[in-house]
Amino acid sequence: MRKLLPLIGNRHGGGRSALTCRYRCGDACFHEVPNTSDNEYAGDVIARTLSRRNVMRAAAVVTVAGAGATSVVLAGNSTPANATPAPDAQAAAAGADGLGARGLRFKPVAPNTADQVTVPEGYAQNVVIKWGDPILKGAPGFNPDKQTAAAQAGQFGYNNDFLSLLPLGGDYERQQLLVANHEYTDENLMFKAYDPANPTREQVEIAWAAHGLSVVVVQEDHRSGKLTAVTRHQLNRRLTATSEFRMTGPAAGGNLLKTSVDPSGTKVLGTLNNCAGGTTPWGTTLHGEENFNQYFANAGKVTDPAAAARLKRYGMTTGESERKWERFDKRFDVAQEPNEANRFGWVVELDPYDPNSVPRKRTALGRFKHEAAQPRLTEDGRPVIYMGDDERFDYFYKFVSSKRMKKGKSRADKEHNLTLLDEGTLYVAKLTGDSPADQIDGSGKYPSDGQFDGTGVWIPLATGTTSHVPGMTAEEVYVFTRQAADKVGATKMDRPEDVEPSPRTGRVYVALTNNSKRGTAGQPGADEANPRNANKHGQILELAESFDDPAGDAFAWRLFLVAGDPNDPATYFAGFPKDKVSPISCPDNVAFDPHGNLWISTDGNQLGSHDGLFGVATAGPQRGELKQFLTVPRGAETCGPLIQDKRVLVSVQHPGEIDGASVEKPQSVWPDGPGKMVRPAVVSVWRKDNRNIGV
Ligand code: FEO
Ligand code: CA
Ligand code: CA
Ligand code: CA
Repeated sequence: MRKLLPLIGNRHGGGRSALTCRYRCGDACFHEVPNTSDNEYAGDVIARTLSRRNVMRAAAVVTVAGAGATSVVLAGNSTPANATPAPDAQAAAAGADGLGARGLRFKPVAPNTADQVTVPEGYAQNVVIKWGDPILKGAPGFNPDKQTAAAQAGQFGYNNDFLSLLPLGGDYERQQLLVANHEYTDENLMFKAYDPANPTREQVEIAWAAHGLSVVVVQEDHRSGKLTAVTRHQLNRRLTATSEFRMTGPAAGGNLLKTSVDPSGTKVLGTLNNCAGGTTPWGTTLHGEENFNQYFANAGKVTDPAAAARLKRYGMTTGESERKWERFDKRFDVAQEPNEANRFGWVVELDPYDPNSVPRKRTALGRFKHEAAQPRLTEDGRPVIYMGDDERFDYFYKFVSSKRMKKGKSRADKEHNLTLLDEGTLYVAKLTGDSPADQIDGSGKYPSDGQFDGTGVWIPLATGTTSHVPGMTAEEVYVFTRQAADKVGATKMDRPEDVEPSPRTGRVYVALTNNSKRGTAGQPGADEANPRNANKHGQILELAESFDDPAGDAFAWRLFLVAGDPNDPATYFAGFPKDKVSPISCPDNVAFDPHGNLWISTDGNQLGSHDGLFGVATAGPQRGELKQFLTVPRGAETCGPLIQDKRVLVSVQHPGEIDGASVEKPQSVWPDGPGKMVRPAVVSVWRKDNRNIGV
């Protein structure tokens, strides 16, 4: 019998501290749910029209796969199992064809509250780079007592999140290019005697410089998975809240993106709240601008009803913002500069190999609270990108490019690939369960067919400059994507976070982190894809499009994992015996290892343990055997997971961010021990015997 840690009382919707809620997402959980649309009705006509032919097509996928083809399949179990979760026999069998992973062989880390990074027996770790470490020429070493905005602009930023490692090759085969997001700042943990009501200009400018992205060359140790930052390398780069970015794609240059400072509607200063992201097959990185709303003030002063409704749908701050940036730059005041906020909430594409390139915000991918963006290619080479809008009751999207990637290395090919994300179709997902609605009672009890599963359609929102949404122009669809999706009847999900397509099977995995409001008064109740009311622990949805045609508009889906304490009957681990899995709560980021195992990091564990990183096979006999690989220090969340053959890289974000914490009263001693400032950092983990991770 598993020994569980005591449940820790927490007044927040997730397992986060109030400090994290406030600085990371602008207290999103305490505000009204921004999605008040009644879209189940408005979209029925469109969805019905699409679904007739699509559901038939999805069924065809199932049939073809059943005949042994390589297409993915999400067939429901044919034998009703009387409300007992059915083992995914067919999915497990899919592992036999060599597409599936072998499962993971390490001794799981037990749930714990140790103020350190805890790794499995036989594994070692090092801190690769920390907030404030100098990375550009001329940048000083970290000195919190003498910190300046200029120093911070040459140092690694705060609260590292998404991580990518790109090869340098040639003579530099033991070096890689590390790209990191810096999601947000927590001024209480950055500045001594910080007064949230009266931040100084210097503090605000340091915070601007601590946001954004970092590019840092890292050196591999030849005997281990240890990584060391190469400071002052010519490819090292910082992009901050004041660096130049360019808007591209169909909404760029339009009236909705023009400001008094930028009448072109194409030049933006900065990127904000970069959460997770992705790495493209053409060698660039993608970065989701997530809770951008919290940086903008005074939406309550906007009197035009249409403009006010748009601001409300994005949860914009009605009065002063938390960090008071509007006092130092009027672009953060929507009452004075109404379109500046329209220039945030995009997916950013960066070419980390070119230190002089201007990163681009891709309007064709829509504007919402972008968690991440991980591409895959269609058979004919067009990128498909799956994207979650991380808000309770918001939506799951995909973008399909109309252009094919070029595989050559010439300058012309590279230039071409940098236009792939500017042309295509943006879709939003509508999911339909296959069990009778009265069998989905909100408790997580399984329906009589033994699966939370069904089919779905991708509803097109816009293609280039053509809108598919009645009453909205294409430009409006891209800039106010949430409202466009409301109108076509998209499915309200439990906070869609990171999404990852399996490079082996083509199946797509969507982390739905939690939704404490599901089924509460005035809010939508459970449905088959979001089957638990007051959902504390979240779930992972598995989706299959035709393997040959991820550009299609139909899919099949089922829940791969219903998270929580395995002793809770409402949990599900793809049918794997529940006495042999690790407890998991609040899945957030997802990544695949080279063998096809899915790795999941968590944010806001509700089971009394610190957050962690988990690995699980998605096919083969070990499908569903979830194992905890590491845990992070007090107050931290695990993000940015990246799994190479011999190395696991994670972001330890917001260590010590516990209610009441400050520089004077630290709540964690990580990473440098007592008396030293708590610092977010990147950690590399490897096997002491230098063999491959988990195999
Ligand atoms: Fe920044 Fe959705 O987590
Ligand atoms: Ca079902
Ligand atoms: Ca996240
Ligand atoms: Ca990911």
